[in-house]
Amino acid sequence: MLRSLLLASSRSPLMRKAVSELPATRRVVDRFVAGETTADAITVVRRLTGAGLTVTIDHLGEEVTDQQTAVLATKAYVTLLDALKPLGLGQRAEVSVKLSAIGQTLDRGMALDHARQICAAARACGSMVTLDMEDHTTVDATLETLQALRADYPETGVAIQSCLYRSEADCRDLADARVRLVKGAYRVPPSHGYQSKAEVDRAYVRCLRVLMAGTGYPMVATHDDRLIAIAEVLAGQHGRDRDAYEFQMLYGVRPDRQRELIESGARVRVYVPYGDDWYGYFMRRLAERPANVAFFLRAVRG
Ligand code: FDA
Repeated sequence: MLRSLLLASSRSPLMRKAVSELPATRRVVDRFVAGETTADAITVVRRLTGAGLTVTIDHLGEEVTDQQTAVLATKAYVTLLDALKPLGLGQRAEVSVKLSAIGQTLDRGMALDHARQICAAARACGSMVTLDMEDHTTVDATLETLQALRADYPETGVAIQSCLYRSEADCRDLADARVRLVKGAYRVPPSHGYQSKAEVDRAYVRCLRVLMAGTGYPMVATHDDRLIAIAEVLAGQHGRDRDAYEFQMLYGVRPDRQRELIESGARVRVYVPYGDDWYGYFMRRLAERPANVAFFLRAVRG
């Protein structure tokens, strides 16, 4: 109920204004967002990579409704990747891209062109791109764009959401690719996806089995200890070394667990969002966990 309300609020311009104007919001946002500028993002990336983690950097923004904003978002990624190059960080830092931020809802051809520019800049610094997955209505378009990108940039990855009925089949189709498996952060209707946590978790394990058995590179994106343990068992059963898959977690979520995994010899990548368009991202983090809402309310009450 609370989750549905928060996910609905993540798309409400009125709520955006109200939440953004609360003085305490910034403090809470800072827990999940690396800052507003490229320099802020790079400071956090240097700290995390210095501690043995790898990162995937997200320039915040989604559902842009004009071409100029889509062009600016594309430029932000290219600038970021160009800045990583002289620091030699390309190998440890990849980028995550929401196609809706670079124009998918306006013109799919334009978004593909923008995504190619980002892939080219990534390759030039030894980095890679992963496409985030947005709500269920965008999956076909995202996978078509992925296919077009992989013709020239086969290293391009994509997020797949276990909450969707279709995802096990999508994992089979993508078993030779870099796939980030997530539970799914958007509202999904019963016609398209599982409604209960138990069903989403069971589907996650089925998708994991497919990916671990495949020839691609599974990216196990979850903070759920049970699923982390299952992923390790499945990787072992399929003879995967620790560097043949990785765990991923969000910036600001379970940093101790991230370190523990690194110390155990696992590969861990942290998803680092930066930029000023943090509202949708922030509301999805609140929706994921009642404790995050409590943390927010405590900050608001001062
Ligand atoms: P879940 O929310 O069920 O949490 C499982 C358990 O993890 C909890 O019970 C608790 O034990 C622990 N936990 C979770 N949060 C915690 C916290 N703050 N502190 C302590 N313990 C905590 N979604 C999407 O739709 N498209 C995408 O492209 C992406 N991309 C993405 C990248 C990365 C790197 C991650 C980690 C996640 C995404 N997601 C995403 C979000 C994803 O779909 C999902 O909403 C969140 O990861 C939360 O789900 P969990 O798997 O962590 O499980």
